[in-house]
Amino acid sequence: MEKKEVLYEGKAKIIFETSEPGYLWVYFKDDTTAFDGLKKELLDDKGVLNNHISSIFFEFLGANGIPTHYEKLLDERSMLVKRLEIIPVEVIMRNIAAGSMSKRLGIPEGTNLKHPVMEYCLKDDALHDPMLNIHHIYALELADKEEMENIQEQAFRINEMLVPYLEEKGIALVDFKLEFGRHPREGIILGDEISPDSCRLWDLASGNKMDKDRFRRDLGGVTEAYREVLKRLKKDES
Ligand code: TMP
Ligand code: ASP
Repeated sequence: MEKKEVLYEGKAKIIFETSEPGYLWVYFKDDTTAFDGLKKELLDDKGVLNNHISSIFFEFLGANGIPTHYEKLLDERSMLVKRLEIIPVEVIMRNIAAGSMSKRLGIPEGTNLKHPVMEYCLKDDALHDPMLNIHHIYALELADKEEMENIQEQAFRINEMLVPYLEEKGIALVDFKLEFGRHPREGIILGDEISPDSCRLWDLASGNKMDKDRFRRDLGGVTEAYREVLKRLKKDES
């Protein structure tokens, strides 16, 4: 397996072509950004931590019937994934009100939601990832009805699996963001990453934040919190 030319460089990852058709090399950077790249810092080892955390989540989901783009770890900062045509819609699942939902609807952060909330945002930093509803997605032909029904079903199932999985590790899954893509043979499958960059994770015992809000809100101890997440995920890994 050889790393070839850069296909795409994002804020937190670099995607390389590989010698194997249909597969991409994902390299996790230490770059940490918030507010669409306005706030930016290098956090030592963040990329290593997110690579490992994402791989554990993908392996857990894969073993429980959710197809993902994840193939295997390549090195400390890299994983091999299936090449997807990413659908430019960020799918957000929420169990507890926080962040933009709390602001928008005036619900105090930490309020338990009676039903998980699914939101869609257009993946476009220049426009600040504006919120979409299902009709925008159809009108703009970002995905069709069959694809979106599939995505919705997978996102709720993923949430139903991750909530108890993390609870066992003393972590509340407040909310998280997923990205899906089209695979030529496997249809719509989960892509991107699942990490403390893309989730809100609160320690059940103390309520402490263990995710990128530590960076967004200048709380300090960002990589220490990510390291603790990895430690807990690894604790009773089979
Ligand atoms: P929000 O409350 O800012 O809308 O964020 C909801 C969740 O989505 C939170 O877990 C962070 C994640 N997220 C991303 O992964 N990327 C983004 O660009 C944004 C805005 C949120
Ligand atoms: N991912 C976005 C950024 O890096 C927004 C965020 O996570 O706050 O700017």
